[in-house]
Amino acid sequence: MENHAVKTNKLSRKFGSVIAVNEISMRIKPGSIYGFLGPNGSGKSTTIRMLCGILASTSGSGEVLGLDINRDSEEIKSKIGYMSQKFGLYEDLTILENLQFYAGLYNLSRNDSRQRIEAMLEMAGLTARQRQLAGSLSGGWKQRLALGCAIIHNPAMVFLDEPTGGVDPVSRRMFWDIIYQLTAAGTTFMVSTHFMDEAEHCDDLGFIYEGKMIAGGTPAQLKSTIPGKMLAIETKTPMKLLAQIREGQMSFNDAYVCGASLRLLVDNGQEYKFEKFSPAVISPTLEDVFVHYAKLNPKELAV
Ligand SMILES: Nc1ncnc2c1ncn2[C@@H]1O[C@H](COP(=O)(O)OP(=O)(O)OP(=O)(O)O)[C@@H](O)[C@H]1O
Ligand SMILES: [Mg+2]
Repeated sequence: MENHAVKTNKLSRKFGSVIAVNEISMRIKPGSIYGFLGPNGSGKSTTIRMLCGILASTSGSGEVLGLDINRDSEEIKSKIGYMSQKFGLYEDLTILENLQFYAGLYNLSRNDSRQRIEAMLEMAGLTARQRQLAGSLSGGWKQRLALGCAIIHNPAMVFLDEPTGGVDPVSRRMFWDIIYQLTAAGTTFMVSTHFMDEAEHCDDLGFIYEGKMIAGGTPAQLKSTIPGKMLAIETKTPMKLLAQIREGQMSFNDAYVCGASLRLLVDNGQEYKFEKFSPAVISPTLEDVFVHYAKLNPKELAV
């Protein structure tokens, strides 16, 4: 049987009457990058915190690196890396002191500590600035320092909760280059994100919606699950065209405006009805996929 870095079975967490995470079953392959997507409040952080052994589950089960998330939570904490949405840096300590603090937290020997701190400074591009206060760094640098702190003990599995929020595109690209290098060396990542371009970089994706996992697979698999054809019609007045198509009672399953183009999802075999608008058949984006799945799962009414 294949071993998984993460394996859950109907993992759930309630806060009072709120079901934050609802029977999630998932698998993450060792050495892969798993992207965890979902709107605000859908349960991403809660799931990650349970997998990191920080928060107990209320039902279901989960294993991380073969350890039980509730019973072996202390051992899990020492073996994984976790970067929270807030980064967890000490702003009034220097860059070096932050790394030293985390090295101490993971009980690294003096030698290992020296070696790993040097490696992390180099990875983050912060060697020359190590005596500077962490609080004085801008977003992208803080993020790379936070990653260095989270993986100072060279963990096999790393959880990153929205690591690139509030970070510019160039820094995001640099951050992802680091993740790729670490994955190539065998590290497994679970990364929550709202960025679809980042989702494209993942080996597998899970989409969580209102606490439930509503879709999963590789980016290509997910795109192939959308039924029908996605048409793009170039026009300077997309809203006007949409109204015209509605009035003409030409049926479509989804429509949205993307710059100077109207995108329509139509049933297979119905494309010909739109020929007069000279549409291009395009492949759906991951955003199309998630909008599609979210629509299939209407919000549950409050009781
Ligand atoms: N400690 C808590 N006490 C009570 N409710 C909580 C607690 N933590 C989370 N929740 C609730 O659980 C649900 C899921 O929250 P969670 O933070 O996991 O979502 P998220 O997907 O990480 O959202 P975001 O994208 O905004 O970070 C929300 O309804 C939230 O209000
Ligand atoms: Mg969150």
